[in-house]
Amino acid sequence: MHELISGRWSARGYDPSATVSVEDITTIVDAGRWAPTWGRVQPVRFIVGLRDDPTFAALCGVLTRGNSGWAPRSAALVLVCTTDDPDDAKADTYGAVDCGLAVAQMILQAEALGFNAHPMAGFDPVAARDSFGIPADKRPLVLLGIGVLAADPTSLPEEIRARDEKPRSRLPLGEVAFAGHWGRAAFSEPPKG
Ligand SMILES: Cc1cc2nc3c(=O)[nH]c(=O)nc-3n(C[C@H](O)[C@H](O)[C@H](O)COP(=O)(O)O)c2cc1C
Repeated sequence: MHELISGRWSARGYDPSATVSVEDITTIVDAGRWAPTWGRVQPVRFIVGLRDDPTFAALCGVLTRGNSGWAPRSAALVLVCTTDDPDDAKADTYGAVDCGLAVAQMILQAEALGFNAHPMAGFDPVAARDSFGIPADKRPLVLLGIGVLAADPTSLPEEIRARDEKPRSRLPLGEVAFAGHWGRAAFSEPPKG
């Protein structure tokens, strides 16, 4: 597996003084723009805040309690919105897929530039809509925190450190990848490395 993928994780212990350059955040958002898009519809839109700018402050203001402790330590917050299209069932369904793909590409581009990126559903979409004048057909779906890991984890608030230290796990490959029949494992062994 590529190390950008195997090394990725959703951290919270960001260095609250680290910043992201305009060049880097432009590249990260552009990576989202170039994600695959159903029917070339391109339903995804981004609202980009850099720490200390008004957009960042407004995005911090819509975080839910579980995220308000750590996410403001991000160097950038990007709100990723999709487009709802009730008149076109496929465009409506795949708008959310496009959004997920854009977020995944942004996460990996952020990793490639030395950042960590953490997706969040924990924000108030109604408040976000009001804050930024988001049109009715656009739906804020994911808020992405982009930050730099604190060099010294012992300097982190205990609550953040404890959450970052929790072990990560996934269902075994045999329980999620099938061949021949639903439930029949596609692979006899997990991949090496
Ligand atoms: C759509 C989505 C929404 C998420 N929302 C939050 C959130 O609001 N707060 C949070 O701390 N993590 C959130 N996460 C991150 C997950 O908790 C995290 O990906 C999961 O625990 C697996 O950990 P890993 O990313 O380190 O592999 C979200 C992830 C996704 C994909």
